Amino acid sequence: MNKVTMKDIANIAGVSKATVSMVLNNKAISISDNTKERILKIAKELNYIPNGVARSLSTNKSQTIGIIVPDIINPFFSEIARAIEDTANKLEYNVIFCNTDSNSKKEEKYIKLLISKLVDGVIFITGEGDIHSLDILNKNNIPFVLVDRDISNKENYCGVYCLNEEGVREGVEYLLQNGKKKIAFVSGNKSLKISFQRIKGYKDVMMEHNLYDENLIFEGDFTIEGGMKITEEIINYDKNIEAIFYSNDIMALGGMKFLVRKGYNIPNDISIIGFDNIKISNFVEPELTTIAQPIYEMGEKACQVLIEIINGNPSRKQMYFKPKLIVRGTT
Ligand code: RIB
Repeated sequence: MNKVTMKDIANIAGVSKATVSMVLNNKAISISDNTKERILKIAKELNYIPNGVARSLSTNKSQTIGIIVPDIINPFFSEIARAIEDTANKLEYNVIFCNTDSNSKKEEKYIKLLISKLVDGVIFITGEGDIHSLDILNKNNIPFVLVDRDISNKENYCGVYCLNEEGVREGVEYLLQNGKKKIAFVSGNKSLKISFQRIKGYKDVMMEHNLYDENLIFEGDFTIEGGMKITEEIINYDKNIEAIFYSNDIMALGGMKFLVRKGYNIPNDISIIGFDNIKISNFVEPELTTIAQPIYEMGEKACQVLIEIINGNPSRKQMYFKPKLIVRGTT
């Protein structure tokens, strides 16, 4: 069964394909109301769906944007994608969603797919910090906005980010004020700039208090399983750890699972802090203390800025959002 075309409608209506096209594209000035109604009725009865790609080619706009994220299973990315999609729909744009598993080959594959689908722009959260995909977007003049993970070195690409270092500083200072000294830090993948920024926040504060020990920095992978695994490593390294600061909430949740299984009491034996403030963090027991990224606002802003760029309005370059300590039951 082939897709219904304008030719099919023209044959049934007994008019030319050009007449059908003018009616369906609201350009039918010199066509009688009777003919217009007949054509629209046939199109409806046949469930005719305009060819989006053909329309994009003629109008040079698809009213569609692409969203590329590293890991859909991580609620941070699904929550930010939700904000982008809400905002896009309000601005009458559709979205095509791509999950890359933090794999730069998949990133490149999806970038090329989105370009072939004639998207008007792309919102890009990179998995590995590889800027090759950005070169492809630049070469094809596809507007894009980076979110969360900054990978621009010299170029000042348009991006929406969280003040990562500031957020970690606030969390470490809070733990120190609560008498914790032996604080382990679990970073994300060290290849990422956000991991470097978060480690720096931890290292600076611990050095300011003459408590810095590089052996208490452990490299995580931003996954829940990775959180469990790295927590076992931490406890094997030092059973008297007083607090663990995880670079994202799902690693903290994995760590909590491991510690509770081993009979630790949270927070009495070990305090736990996460980073992100994904919705589920408020529903575990004890509820997770975390550094809240303004996830929804970041997604909303990124989408607004991208659509401003698509519509030819100059955009501000880097926009930064402040994180906020949310104290709950794990500290
Ligand atoms: O949870 C995933 C982490 O990677 C978040 O902290 C977010 O910043 C993303 O980059």
